[in-house]
Amino acid sequence: MNPTKWSAFVEEENKVHIVEMMDGVRKIKGLGVIDTNELFSNIEIGEEVLVGQKVLTRVPLRLPEMTKGMLRRAQTISAKDAGFMTSRMGIGPGDSVLEAGIGSGGLSMYIARILGDSGVHVTVEPRSEHADIALENLRRCKESWPEFPSHHHIEGAIEDVREQISSVRPSFDAIILDLPEHPSAIQSVASLLNIGGRMVCYCPVTSQLENAWIACEEQGLEVEWAGELIQRQWGKASKGGVRPVNGPFGHTAFLLLAYRRE
Ligand SMILES: C[S@@+](CC[C@H](N)C(=O)[O-])C[C@H]1O[C@@H](n2cnc3c(N)ncnc32)[C@H](O)[C@@H]1O
Repeated sequence: MNPTKWSAFVEEENKVHIVEMMDGVRKIKGLGVIDTNELFSNIEIGEEVLVGQKVLTRVPLRLPEMTKGMLRRAQTISAKDAGFMTSRMGIGPGDSVLEAGIGSGGLSMYIARILGDSGVHVTVEPRSEHADIALENLRRCKESWPEFPSHHHIEGAIEDVREQISSVRPSFDAIILDLPEHPSAIQSVASLLNIGGRMVCYCPVTSQLENAWIACEEQGLEVEWAGELIQRQWGKASKGGVRPVNGPFGHTAFLLLAYRRE
């Protein structure tokens, strides 16, 4: 690992830029045409640097910075749902996790961070234009963090690549499905879940939740929890005190957590 290969710089409003430290002038999205090594290599963590009109502060490249500054294409799973999913599935070092689709790799970064060196992470995605973005995000993580799991990416729809998945790992402690059609995916891979393992289905609409629920039960899984997480942020009021900030409650998805007891 080269700890200085990637660096994070935060702007006002908390916008994060993740830059690869390299010699040579090139275009960096949001920062213009710069030589990152020349401009940033002497800037210490916590120090400010002026780039054009922007005042940037160098910060450690931890998971929140990695997700704020990530490359995006498909809709990503954020901390609200990722935290619940990973903790309720009990994912930790040494575990094996199957994830489909990888999308932009938003959730994959949370999983990689939690698994550390001793975990195994298998990702599946049919669309290479999505996977390219996700794999680049994961490359940044691997090259920036002290630990990273053994990661295997398989191209294809999960229903079509069961053999490839089981050749990497015969069974999994956790399976996460964030894709449009859950039932066929559940039918394909539910038998790969270890006894005591859990599956989460991420379902933006209620019909997906219902269909996933039925499919999990048909495969002998017990639904442990289903529902939605609602988050309300608080801020400082202009005349003093703290209160909930104005703004709508956003919807992300309904979550279904299923358990293999036997
Ligand atoms: C919303 S994105 C996943 C986002 C991801 N969880 C993240 O946090 O970045 C859904 C992905 O599922 C993929 N997908 C669709 N059908 C699939 C299938 N049958 N098997 C695997 N992946 C599939 C899509 O191509 C898309 O990239």
